[in-house]
Amino acid sequence: LKNKPLYGKKCLITAGPTYEAIDPVRFIGNHSSGKMGSELAHQLLDQGAEVTLVMGPSQVTTSSSINRLDVKSAQEMYDAVHEHISDQDIAIFSAAVADYRPANPADSKIKKSEDTLSLELVKNPDILASVGALQHRPFLVGFALETNDELEHAFAKAKKKNTDLLILNSMRDKGAGFGTDTNKITMIHRSGEHQEFALKSKADVAKDIVNEIIKQVV
Ligand code: PMT
Repeated sequence: LKNKPLYGKKCLITAGPTYEAIDPVRFIGNHSSGKMGSELAHQLLDQGAEVTLVMGPSQVTTSSSINRLDVKSAQEMYDAVHEHISDQDIAIFSAAVADYRPANPADSKIKKSEDTLSLELVKNPDILASVGALQHRPFLVGFALETNDELEHAFAKAKKKNTDLLILNSMRDKGAGFGTDTNKITMIHRSGEHQEFALKSKADVAKDIVNEIIKQVV
């Protein structure tokens, strides 16, 4: 283990969706499977790192060598990240976190009555941005999932959230994004340079990302 490049490094990853409760039986969620984040966790483990995976609701199973913390909501994910972030060397935010949650989740199942029903939503904390704003922060890798004007939006996110590396994937690319076993990414560097990669398995995408991290951190 000692001759692995990430031996002695602590890495935290967020992955999967978040579920935001509407009432005890319903939630607002999204289509993230947790595959991309799980592949990253295993790749970091293979390279010798000590890995903490903060995972939203997901069917994906992970190695028992990974310290896996299962959470449901964005607030729970935020709390788990901040409980562990202070001694991390590297943090990767691949989770699809709900930007908003129901303001007043009902204590009991909402009954069907009127023809329309309105839900008031309030903003969730931005976990990546909150870590980007820390004075002592790990090497920070964010993701951006876009549907249009991809590069422009991704550059703005990299700046706003203060990432060292931002991984852009687009819903417009076939085989990329949610659920699939493949992904197609563009890396956005702090310098402003960007680098496009071919469609690959999520395992190979994770290798490319971890190799880039090793290049910049070790
Ligand atoms: O899980 P899979 O099915 O394998 O799919 C992988 C993926 C598509 C979910 C993944 O590759 C990906 O793109 N993850 C980020 C999805 C996303 O929500 O992107 P965003 O552009 O909305 O968010 C930008 C960044 O801020 C992300 O790093 C996100 O984790 C982070 N964020 C966003 C909102 C919030 N409240 N807190 C955050 O930390």
